[in-house]
Amino acid sequence: MSPRSGPHPGLLAAGQRAGAALVLAVGLLLALARPAGAHAVLQATNPADGEELETAPAEVTLQFNEPVTAPLGAVRVFDANAERVDLGDAGNVSEDPSRLRVGLPGDLRDGTYVATWSALSTDAHPVRGAFLFTVGDVEAADDEALSAIFAQAEGGDSPLVATAASGLRFLVYIGSLLAAGGVIFLLWVHDRRPAERRPLTALATVGAGVAAVASVIGIAVQGVLVTGLGAAALLDPEVLGETLTSSYGAAAVVRLAGLGALLAALPRLWNRPAIIATGVGAAAVLASFALTGHTVSTEPRWLVVGATLSHTLAGAAWFGGLVLLLVALRSRRLADDPAGGGRLVARFSTLATSAIVLVSAAGLALVWSQVRAPRALIASAYGWTLLAKVAIVAAVLAVGFYNNRRLVPAITRGAGDAWQRLGRTVRFEVIGLLAVVLVTAVLVNLVPARIAAGVTGVFSTYADIGEDHQINMTIDPNRAGTNDVHLYLLGQDGRPADTTGDLVLAFSLPAEDIGPIEREALLAGPGHWLQTGPELSIPGEWRIEIRIRVSDFEQLSTEVPVTVNP
Ligand code: HEM
Repeated sequence: MSPRSGPHPGLLAAGQRAGAALVLAVGLLLALARPAGAHAVLQATNPADGEELETAPAEVTLQFNEPVTAPLGAVRVFDANAERVDLGDAGNVSEDPSRLRVGLPGDLRDGTYVATWSALSTDAHPVRGAFLFTVGDVEAADDEALSAIFAQAEGGDSPLVATAASGLRFLVYIGSLLAAGGVIFLLWVHDRRPAERRPLTALATVGAGVAAVASVIGIAVQGVLVTGLGAAALLDPEVLGETLTSSYGAAAVVRLAGLGALLAALPRLWNRPAIIATGVGAAAVLASFALTGHTVSTEPRWLVVGATLSHTLAGAAWFGGLVLLLVALRSRRLADDPAGGGRLVARFSTLATSAIVLVSAAGLALVWSQVRAPRALIASAYGWTLLAKVAIVAAVLAVGFYNNRRLVPAITRGAGDAWQRLGRTVRFEVIGLLAVVLVTAVLVNLVPARIAAGVTGVFSTYADIGEDHQINMTIDPNRAGTNDVHLYLLGQDGRPADTTGDLVLAFSLPAEDIGPIEREALLAGPGHWLQTGPELSIPGEWRIEIRIRVSDFEQLSTEVPVTVNP
C-alpha cells in the first residue's frame, strides 16, 4: 500500500466546502451590503442648495427630520480650491437636537462654497451628503475641484467599507451567539461528561475571542463609515473617541466587557465564581445588541428592547447549542454510545423547542416594529431580505423536526446509519443558521421597511429619469393633508444637476378616480424644486408623474408610486 501524502480527503473536502461557503458569504455581503440609506432625512439647509447669496452667511445650518448627532468633522465648508474655511465648531444647535450648524469666519470672501455634512441617525447609522452655495458675484467654479470635494464627502460610502462593516457585524453576531449559547448549553444541557468538557468550553471561548476581535476592529471601521474621512480615520484617536461615545461605542464597550468575562471564566468553568461570571458575561454580550441599531430608534421602546433581548437570547441558545451539540455527538459516536447521544439530543430538544418559540415570537414583534404594513415587505430591500431570512429559518426548522421525530428514536433503537444521518442533518442546521445570521448582518443595516415604504413618517425614494439622471423625491410628512414634496435631479456622479428648467408634477389617485392634478413646482436652487400644497389630501396609493424640461428640445419624465398615510 503506498503511503498517502497530503491532507486526508475528508479534511480536504471539508476545507473546500468551507472555502466555497466563505466565497458565497463574501459574495452575498458584497451584493447586499450597501452604505446605510437615509435613516435620518435632511429636510432643509441654510443657505439652501444652490443659493446665490449677496453677503456671506455667519453659519451653515441643517435641519433633519429626527434628532441626529454630529461626529467629528460633521459639517465642513470648503472653498472652490478645496480649502476648508469653516470655524471647525460643528455640532448640534443646543435647543434643537435635529439641527446641526457650523460657524463661518466674518471675512468670508465672494466665491463658490461646498458644505459637506455627515450625521449619525438615532439608530447609529451614518448619513451624509453635500450642497453648494455662492457668495457675491462669482465666476464659474472649477468643476474638477468641486467634484473632488463632493467625492470626499462620499468617502465613507465605498462598497468596500460597507462590506467590511457588514462582515465584521456577522463575525460579532456569530462569535457572540456561539459564546453565549455555548454557556447556556454547558450549564443547562450538557451532562458534564469529563472527556467533552475541554473541547466544548474551547469552542465557546473561540466564539468569544472572534466576537471580541471583530468588535474592536468594528469600532475603527465605524469611525471611517461615520466621518467619511477614509482610511485616515481608522486609528485617529479623536475619531475613535467620538465613536466610543456614540450608542455604537457604548454597545461595543458593554459587549467587550461581557466577552472579557467569558474569556476569563470559560476555561475555569464549573467552579461557582466562574459559573456566575460566565452567566453575567453572556447576559452583557446579549444585552449589548439592544443598546444600538434600530432598537434605539423604534417605538414603543419597551417592546422593541424586550423583543431584541428575548430574540438574541433564544437565537444564541439555538445556534450556540446546536454547534456544541454537533461536537458532543461526534464524541459520543466515536465512543459508540447511542443511548448517551440520544439522551443529549432529547435534553437539547427541550431547550431548543422553547428557544424556537421565543425566537419566532420575538422575531414577529421585531417584524411588526420595523415593517408595520404587509405592503412594506415587498416594497423595500429590508422586506425582501427579511423574507429570505424567514425562508431559511423555515428550512432549518423542517430539518430539526425530522431529526426529532425520526432520527433520534432510530438512534436510541440502534438503527443502522441513523448516527451518520443525524450528523449530516445537524450540520445542515448549523450551516442554515449561519446563513440566517449572515442575512441578519445585512438586514440590520438596511433602512427599515416601514420607512423605506413610507408607512410611517417621511417618504423618500430615488427613481431613474431619462438616460443618465436620477430623481430623489422626498414627501414630508407623507400624511393626508398639506405636504412638502422636494425633488432633486441628480447627474451620474450623484450631484444635483445644473438644471433650472420647469418641473411639473401630476398627482393621481386611480382608486378614487382623482387626477391628474397638475402643479408646477417652485425652483429652490439648481436641480432642486419644491411643491408645497394639499394635493395629497386623501390617504391611498397615489401615482406622481414628474416632468422636467431640461432644454428647449428635451423633457425628462417618470412616474413614482407613493402610498400616502392617513
Ligand atoms: C422566525 C424567525 C425570525 C424572524 C421573523 C426574525 C426577525 C428579525 C428582525 C425583524 C430583526 C430586527 C432587525 C433590525 O434591527 O432591523 C432581527 C434581528 C436579529 N435576529 Fe432575527 N429573526 C428570526 C430568527 C432568527 C434566528 C433563528 C436567529 C439566530 C440564530 C436570529 C438572530 C438575530 C440577530 C442576532 C438579530 C440582531 C439583533 C440586533 O442587533 O438588534 N434571528 N430578527
